[in-house]
Amino acid sequence: TIYARLAGVGSYLPPDRVTNDDLVARGIDTNDEWIATRTGIRARHLAAPDVTSSQLGLEAARRALEHAGIGADEIDLLIVATSTPDFIFPSTACLIQSALGNKGATAFDVQAVCSGFVYAMTIAEKFIRSGSHKKALVIGAETFSRILDWKDRGTCVLFGDGAGAVVMEASAQPGILATALHADGSHSDILNVPGQVVGGQVTGDPFLRMDGQAVFKFAVRVLAEVARECCEAAQLPPDQVDWLVPHQANIRIIEATAKKMGLSMERVVTTVAQHGNTSAASVPLALDAAVKDGRIQRGQTVMLEGVGGGFTWGAVLLRY
Ligand code: ACO
Repeated sequence: TIYARLAGVGSYLPPDRVTNDDLVARGIDTNDEWIATRTGIRARHLAAPDVTSSQLGLEAARRALEHAGIGADEIDLLIVATSTPDFIFPSTACLIQSALGNKGATAFDVQAVCSGFVYAMTIAEKFIRSGSHKKALVIGAETFSRILDWKDRGTCVLFGDGAGAVVMEASAQPGILATALHADGSHSDILNVPGQVVGGQVTGDPFLRMDGQAVFKFAVRVLAEVARECCEAAQLPPDQVDWLVPHQANIRIIEATAKKMGLSMERVVTTVAQHGNTSAASVPLALDAAVKDGRIQRGQTVMLEGVGGGFTWGAVLLRY
């Protein structure tokens, strides 16, 4: 049997770190206390106006390749999870592939918003397990600052920019133990960017819109369910998972999920305080933080989880 295992991780944040107080100084009618008590967010990083998702993703990819000790030329599959691509096309994956120089490798984007990274990892696992591909680069890269309405204080304080990446490779040992992906498009109205470009004009609304309380309730329910589903498939009780690395939207959603799994917060990786919600980049950014500071050790079990617009949700349970 061929399994897929993680060979390396990497991440990149743009240098402009913006605290809640900095947002106030930039003219947003908010305060640190409101943002921190409701979301746990203290700061986020924002990309400079000329910096794109592919540039953030490229840097994260280079770091993941270096950590894995694998050359870009060995990568035969490149998947980018993003909802803020540089262009309508070519895909962000093709732009990164061109910069890395590994011509000929399969490359495409996946659009599942904040669940994009677990979607992309699950797809890469299936390619590797089928035997068609041997080494995959899976990247989550976002510049959500571009689709925020900076006049809507209920949403613009929640998000940040960044990128994370993993290298996955074929292995005789698992690796990824279980995956589960779901979507329910009937909830598309509670979180969306409902505009598009038609005939050179933006039609509809080009900014992110959200019903925060509806999203909160939905996220808590489905994250607990999908964690249980993955654990059952791998025959591992949820409270035996060594590390939970959830999507970083809101500390209260994360705490509620951990509680439902029977995990203490010491076993949950959280970066939301410093990164805000970076959508498809949040899971690999958090994973990289916990691998590089030595918390996540080889042989331990790790549950990655995402939930986002669509609605989409999913989980990947792996042995690091
Ligand atoms: N600063 C100060 N006051 C604010 C701000 C702000 N940034 N934003 C809103 N307010 C005010 C509102 O105007 C409102 O005032 P009013 O009562 O005078 O009208 C008051 O705060 C309460 O607003 P609510 O929207 O009801 O606040 P709520 O307690 O629901 O918190 C929040 C909003 C933080 C968005 C919460 O609903 C939440 O965390 N939801 C989860 C959504 C989420 O995490 N989404 C991320 C994207 S989805 C994903 O990644 C899965």
